[in-house]
Amino acid sequence: MENLLTIIVVISVWLLFCVAMWRIHIARQRNNISADTSLLITYASQTGNAQAIANRYAQALHLSEMANVVALNHLSIENLSSVDQVLFIVSTYGDGEAPDNGNLFIKRIQNAIKNTVKLNHLKFSVIALGDTGYPKFCAFGYQVHQSMLDIGSEPNNEVIAVDKYNEQTTTLASITPRWLNIQEVNETSTKTNSPQYWQLTERLLLNPDCDDEKLFQLTFTSIGPTPSWQAGDLIDIQPHQPKAVVNQWLQAHQYDGTQLLTYQGHQQSLSAWLAMRELPNNCTYSINELLDNLPTLTTRSYSIASISEQGQLQLIVRLLEKEENSFGLASGYLSNNCSVGAIVQGQIRSVSTHHQIDNTVPLILIGAGSGLAGLKAQIDARAYFKTKLNKPTGPTWLIFGERNSHSQLPINKYLLTLEESNLAKLSCAYSQDSKQAKYVQHILADEEAMLKQWLSEGAVIYICGCLSGMGESVHNTLIELLGQEKLTELQCQQRYIRDVY
Ligand SMILES: Cc1cc2nc3c(=O)[nH]c(=O)nc-3n(C[C@H](O)[C@H](O)[C@H](O)COP(=O)(O)OP(=O)(O)OC[C@H]3O[C@@H](n4cnc5c(N)ncnc54)[C@H](O)[C@@H]3O)c2cc1C
Ligand SMILES: Cc1cc2nc3c(=O)[nH]c(=O)nc-3n(C[C@H](O)[C@H](O)[C@H](O)COP(=O)(O)O)c2cc1C
Repeated sequence: MENLLTIIVVISVWLLFCVAMWRIHIARQRNNISADTSLLITYASQTGNAQAIANRYAQALHLSEMANVVALNHLSIENLSSVDQVLFIVSTYGDGEAPDNGNLFIKRIQNAIKNTVKLNHLKFSVIALGDTGYPKFCAFGYQVHQSMLDIGSEPNNEVIAVDKYNEQTTTLASITPRWLNIQEVNETSTKTNSPQYWQLTERLLLNPDCDDEKLFQLTFTSIGPTPSWQAGDLIDIQPHQPKAVVNQWLQAHQYDGTQLLTYQGHQQSLSAWLAMRELPNNCTYSINELLDNLPTLTTRSYSIASISEQGQLQLIVRLLEKEENSFGLASGYLSNNCSVGAIVQGQIRSVSTHHQIDNTVPLILIGAGSGLAGLKAQIDARAYFKTKLNKPTGPTWLIFGERNSHSQLPINKYLLTLEESNLAKLSCAYSQDSKQAKYVQHILADEEAMLKQWLSEGAVIYICGCLSGMGESVHNTLIELLGQEKLTELQCQQRYIRDVY
């Protein structure tokens, strides 16, 4: 009997060993490219695009996201020394600067060069994401390319500069360097997601006291099953031209807007098609050439102000006012032109750098105006964690900037409701209440001791809203109060997260 047991144990151990070896063999086969060329993919991304591309490549090339994909700030000289090929996918942020998760890299390379390090064995390619609307187009991508040349690495190709990357319309193949051999990329993993549609169910003006900078809270329900998203994610909204603009354009160019046109399998009137298109002053196309030639309006990103468990998608949109009676395209569409009940096209974009907040540590949320959207989603996520999942959460402190403290204003009622249910501390800065305007950075300075106390207890700082003005002032104040070194340390620990635009 004892002998039989020993035989069974030996055979079981042998079988387990064989299964383990088989799995390693399969994994090696799958990771063929990594094994053959030691390819590393690295990204620097502020709002998730570059990171999503990096992950799509990893998936398409059967590489492991854990082993082969790394944020640029975590890429060491040792990592670079031990691979043959590196693919950089980096966006540009601020005024031609690095995204927060890539801002240590250039210095790291420069230090290595000072220490006479050479990376002559290494070949690289840079895919740079940017927007030609900014003066320093793809500046950080070019800086990364130059740094790699400086350290002796060999480029596979010139910088591939991608303007206004959009997951819906930009295929991987169109931005892939030739040496990656896109034919090998699995077709299904490079396909874009199908478009998502949302019905506007409510629109609420949050600051009726303001003549400009109006803030609207919009609520949508999904057409079809509600997709899932997390606090910190964005939605890319497809704007529409105002009806009057389309009609005027049709008249000026003598097209019949009521004519039905079938395009890519859908039929609707020409004016409905043109609502989503750029309408240039000079246009000589025939009616049947229009849809092939007029570019679709660029989508605009919005922070989602709710979590998917709530079953509704909320946005907080600031109406951008231009000349008299003219508004920004997307904010005007959402705040004014799109009626309650209308269907809006919007694609959720996951921003995983915003997901990594530990719900059990203290959280300091800082923002102003439309930044409330991203902050509210974080508050809702914690409330869900606490009440629905019955898990302990760390305290939340909201530091928020608005104009007017009047308690009957919807925005202030809204903040009070948040405070009563989910906040340990609410500090508001009102810019129009006293002779001297008060902003969120002033609260940070006034509450320096409390800020340091929370940080010593492991707090995460999360900032949401405009970069110019609020975001920059808060950043500079934090440097003054904590020092650049401490702020960099917090950033590396993912305890200083900027969701600013
Ligand atoms: C990550 C992120 C999160 C955001 N979250 C919010 C939020 O929660 N709430 C909020 O109110 N706003 C948010 N914004 C700002 C928002 O995306 C819009 O910029 C803002 O609403 C103004 O857009 P508009 O279309 O009304 O104005 P427009 O002036 O029509 O457009 C604004 C921007 O779109 C681009 N653009 C305009 N025309 C063109 C064109 N022809 N081709 C290419 N690009 C063009 C330009 O960059 C322009 O500056 C966020 C922005 C980002 C990047
Ligand atoms: C606040 C802000 C600043 C930006 N600054 C620049 C810039 O200076 N130069 C540029 O080419 N693109 C700039 N962009 C555009 C981004 O690089 C582009 O949207 C890119 O797709 C973002 O990729 P990510 O999601 O990986 O961060 C900026 C975008 C934002 C939101």
